Formats: sequence, structure tokens, C-alpha cells
Amino acid sequence: MDFQLKTLTVARAAAEKSDVLIVLVGSAPLTAKDPLSALIASARKAGDLPDKAGKLLALYRPETVVPSRVLLAAIGDGKAASVRSAVSAAVAAAKANGPKRVVIVFAQPADAAAVAAAVTAAADASYVYTTTKSKAEPRSIRHLTLAVSEAASPAVTKAFDDARATVAGIELAKEWGNRPANHATPTLLAEAAKGLAKLPRIKCEVLGPKEVDKLGMGAFAAVAQGSAEPLRFIVLRYQGGAKDEAPVVLVGKGITFDTGGVSLKPAAEMDEMKFDMCGAASVLGTFRALGAIQPAINVVGLIPSCENMNDGKAVKPGDVVTSMSGQTIEILNTDAEGRLILCDALTYAERFKPAAVVDIATLTGACIIALGHHTSGLFTRHDEAHDALAQELLDAGKQAGDVAWRFPLGENYNEQLKSNFADLANIGTPGAASITAACFLENFTRKYTWAHLDIAGTAWKSGAAKGATGRPVPLLTTFLLNRV
Ligand code: BES
Ligand code: MN
Ligand code: ZN
Repeated sequence: MDFQLKTLTVARAAAEKSDVLIVLVGSAPLTAKDPLSALIASARKAGDLPDKAGKLLALYRPETVVPSRVLLAAIGDGKAASVRSAVSAAVAAAKANGPKRVVIVFAQPADAAAVAAAVTAAADASYVYTTTKSKAEPRSIRHLTLAVSEAASPAVTKAFDDARATVAGIELAKEWGNRPANHATPTLLAEAAKGLAKLPRIKCEVLGPKEVDKLGMGAFAAVAQGSAEPLRFIVLRYQGGAKDEAPVVLVGKGITFDTGGVSLKPAAEMDEMKFDMCGAASVLGTFRALGAIQPAINVVGLIPSCENMNDGKAVKPGDVVTSMSGQTIEILNTDAEGRLILCDALTYAERFKPAAVVDIATLTGACIIALGHHTSGLFTRHDEAHDALAQELLDAGKQAGDVAWRFPLGENYNEQLKSNFADLANIGTPGAASITAACFLENFTRKYTWAHLDIAGTAWKSGAAKGATGRPVPLLTTFLLNRV
């Protein structure tokens, strides 16, 4: 889908050729005298378009308007969240007629955040997955014009460009998240990462089982050993800043399928464990966005990727492995595999002398119990540097409409990870499972400033709308751009 930003009044937008014209109507009264604006004002007056974000009114062949279908969508206060819900509803409704060309016009002045929200919401509502369907019906919308009534300020233009780049990243993350595990093996994920290295300033290196063994990544290797698919360790670099500038390191959990291993998961909904690489997909997506935006910052992406399978060679409950950090781990539950692959990647991150490290993982079912599907879990230590990093991530999430919520972390919880046979157990005693998972990771991050995002509830949707969301690409991209 190609996006364009234009300066058009409602009257001018009504004269543009399109299959659907969507008019975003805010609370302030419309003063323009053209026929469409007058029609909107009268619909408002009659109470047919309530002033509540997301309310719609469909018009068919209104006089003097070129497109035969017009959808009025209320955006209330015009804030980003309101625009997001209005554009989602309007594009979802417009989709039914398979429009190719869509124009969305703001009837009142729009700020940068509103413009960005309109772009990401329109893309989200029109996305279709096609890769493994034999008769795929791709997304109908080919051209989407977003129109603002006043000449776009540099801030609005920048917000539009960044949002369009973020959409490319979100859609890459959705694509890899949605692909079934037999179409998204660690090897294929690594190929996708190599593909990103075609973008300017991006480099990619991929390590296999031999290199990983040589590095001493015993925890990562233990998870992979039950699978016929070889593991991959993906190292991406984006260099937009000075050579000696410390990078931000993003570490994404790349379990392409999580059966639970010997600690087998129940059959119901196990298919959804193909989404257990959504942390990795969010790193790929963020690099896609960086490649398009080319900001002046250095970023490293690390993706440990493998399957968690049940097999004669699989790791067993009670096995003790040695991580790259030297710390030994008693694997009490083979289904707590995410932290095992991440801990070695987090140790590997030390070599970049990072400004900050953020790991992103579909780590715990307990995070869904705590936060549901709206909010990602955020965990960091509690000191000045970490409070600042946490705040940056929370702010970026708010800004991007991709919110997170901070949990506590600390010594009391570390007590829960004691083992009689190793330095650490890979699961905690009952209670606070999301926090003890983060605590486990914390033991491998003492050499730098670090944050952990648990995206188990936000990376995909279940039920009828089953599919990857592309989150938290918006949060991560915004966080990085705010650092420039
Ligand atoms: N990938 C899962 C976490 C998960 C579960 C995400 C359900 C989304 C929905 C992770 O590897 C896992 O299995 N975690 C266990 C940890 C437990 C064994 C301590 C969990 O959450 O049950
Ligand atoms: Mn698991
Ligand atoms: Zn998992």
C-alpha cells in the first residue's frame, strides 16, 4: 500500500477521485461553506453523527462529491487515541467494498500525533495475511492519501514519514509472526534478517550451532537440542551514529515453536506457540523502520532462535546447564525456555558496551493474567539510571499508542529462584511468575542498563481475529527516535 500526505480541504478532497472518502470530523463546528462541509454540519446538528470517537455515518453519492462513497467518522477531541479508533472503525467498514483508492481527510487542523495515528491505524485495519493461502485475496487498498487542511508543518511531515516507516516495520513483524512454524524456522528467520542488510547502514551476521557452542552458550544450546531444526543466532547492526557511539541493543526471543519440551504444553491452542518468536519479529520490524528512517543512532539487534521440542535428545527437567556467563542453571521446567535462550544473548550483549539493552519476549502466560492484551509488561532494576530508562520506554509507548506498565523487581523475588543443584533455577517458587522470569534475566544483565518487555499478551490476538499485532514495533521505534 502506498501512502501519500497532501494538503486538501474537505471541499478539495471531495473533488479527488477515490473509491471511498473518509472525513474525520472533530468536535469543533465546521465553518466551511462547501456542500460536503454543510452536509456534515447538518448531520451533526440532527444528531446523526454523535461527537464520539469511532462513530460513523455512511453517505452514498452525496451531491457535488466525486467519490460515490463517503464515510464520516467522528474523532471527538482529535487526540491520537481518538483518531486511532475512528480510523480503525472507518477503514474496517470501508473494506467491505474492496476499495483500491482511499482518501482520508481531517476536517479540522490535525497535529503530528493525530497524523501518525491515522497512518498506523489505517494500515492496521487494512492488513491481510496471504503467504500460506493458495487463493490469497490481498489487501484491496493500493493507494491511501491522508489529507490535512492546512499546509503540513515540518513536524507533521516528519510524523507522517516516520509513521509510514513504522508501518513497514509493523507489517514485517506481523508477516513473520503469522507464518506457521514450518514456514518460519530459525533458518528462515535468519534469511529474513539477512534480507534487511540490503537496506543502507544495516549489517547482518548469523551464527549456527558450532559457533554458539564455541561461545559457551550452554543454556541456548540446551533448548535447541530437542529439535531437528538447527538453531540460529542473529546479529543485526544499524549504524547511523558515530562509530564510537555506544549502541542500544535490542534482544528478541526467537522461539519459532514452543511445545514446552518434555514439560509439554496442553494441546488446546498450542498452535499459538508459533507466535513465540514475536519478540524476534519486533526486532526485525524495528530494523526495517530504522532502515527507512535512517536516524543518527547506533542499534544492535540480537536474536537467539530455535524450536522448543520434545525428543529423545531433548533437555530434561532437572538437567543442569552452564550459561555463557558461567552461571549454572537447573532446568526445572523445560517450558521456561525463553529465559534460557535470552540469558546467553544478554551475556553476548556485553561486548557492545551498550548504552542500554532492551529485551523483548513472549515470556510468561502470567503476564496475560496480570495485564490482559492491552498492555506489555516492563521490568527493570530500581535505581536512577533504570528509572530513567523505564520512563523513556513508558513515554514512547504512550506516544505510539503501544503502552507498557512497569512491574517491581528485586531481591525478594530472587529468593524464589534458588536451586539446590545449580546457581539458579529456571523457574521460581509459585507466585509472581512474570516477575521471577524477569528476575532470572536480571542475573545476566548486571554489566549494563537493561529493561525487559514481556509481550505475551500484546504480540498477537487469539480467537476470530487470530494474528500477530506487530507490537511493540511502534514503542521500540519511537523509543529509538526519541534518543536521537
Ligand atoms: N512462550 C511461553 C509464554 C506464553 C504462554 C506466552 C502463553 C503466551 C501465551 C513461555 O515459554 C512459557 O511457556 N512460559 C511458562 C513459564 C512457566 C513454566 C514458569 C508459562 O508462562 O507458563
Ligand atoms: Mn515455554
Ligand atoms: Zn516460550
